Amino acid sequence: MSINSVSISNNIQGLRQSFTRDEYVSPAIFAHEMEEIFAKRWNFVGRAEQLTHIGDRLVVEVGNESILIVRNREGELRAYYNVCQHRGSQLCDKSGSGFGAAITCPYHSWSYSLEGKLVSAIHHDKESFDRDSISLTQVRVDEWQGNMFVCLNDDEESLHDWLEDLYSKPFDLDKFEMGKLKVAYTTVDEAKANWKVLVENYCECLHCSVVHPEFCEIVPVYGKGFNFQNDRFDSGVSLAPGMTAVSFKQNEGLPLLASMEDLDDYSVFGAYVYPNMLIDVNPTLVAVTAYIPRTPTHTTIITTYLFPAEAINNPAMDIMPAVEFNDLVNHQDIDVSERVQRGVASKSFKRAYHSEMEKYAQRFVKQYRQDITNS
Ligand code: FES
Ligand SMILES: [Fe+2]
Repeated sequence: MSINSVSISNNIQGLRQSFTRDEYVSPAIFAHEMEEIFAKRWNFVGRAEQLTHIGDRLVVEVGNESILIVRNREGELRAYYNVCQHRGSQLCDKSGSGFGAAITCPYHSWSYSLEGKLVSAIHHDKESFDRDSISLTQVRVDEWQGNMFVCLNDDEESLHDWLEDLYSKPFDLDKFEMGKLKVAYTTVDEAKANWKVLVENYCECLHCSVVHPEFCEIVPVYGKGFNFQNDRFDSGVSLAPGMTAVSFKQNEGLPLLASMEDLDDYSVFGAYVYPNMLIDVNPTLVAVTAYIPRTPTHTTIITTYLFPAEAINNPAMDIMPAVEFNDLVNHQDIDVSERVQRGVASKSFKRAYHSEMEKYAQRFVKQYRQDITNS
């Protein structure tokens, strides 16, 4: 078997080929994906407001690497491999505030500035070795609309160019001014499913009438198996008449996002930002989700709920019915994805297929094949 095992050729008229069984379960293929996709492309890692003050730090996993992100004295983001240059100890375990302006290794206390320069080493005076030639290894970090991305590949195009060219057109969501929203709530889930199973599930709505009956009451077109609306040209999908929010509570009194007022209908928008980010725009919130692949059969899912500041700060406004509704939908998706993972593990399963109604999932397969085949 080649590592890129796409040679199973069961063509079925009217269907397109998705991933093979091996691509859902093989540790060798998973390792190849970490190198050829997650170590090369821009990965969504969190919100810039998680690093507000000088010295705040965020520890994230990108591919097989632990990455440390800090905010420097100029207020800029910096990212480094989370590895001490002395004898290789991992530097930081935890994200958070209050660490001050030095990054100190917990092994022999070598200490680095927020610019990654070695500034002190206990028991050694300044002249004992050339500190100036020792720095943490920097990686690229950038942000778009308050969303932070890390790229381990110096040859990759800029974040802006990557997002501009990406087939799912995330810049179309700029009108909702995500950058002005604030983090109100975060959930972390561990899914027993391959990251591609989760992405395919996100990219189609054939399952929605069966798996998400509550959501389909609010967004009727989802109940018909579509995640797009042919009579709209802005990629939005309309809520049912009388519905104002994707929430357990309608007319919940939360402020609408920028540009929502201008639409004819209360609407939802979504985008999958290859390889690891989902963006769900609702009338009153944006949910941004990071998929962090751990093993072929395990993915960590971090969903961050963003609202206008006035919705968070006003005690008369209750964001939780909307958060809890979205969390219900997330768990329905996790349950069905874990079911798929159990199924594709069977030796009897050869490969998955997509119909025309799963065209966005097929677009994901195409991007994946480009990355894997070009490697
Ligand atoms: S390994 Fe970090 S100070 Fe020694
Ligand atoms: Fe779903």
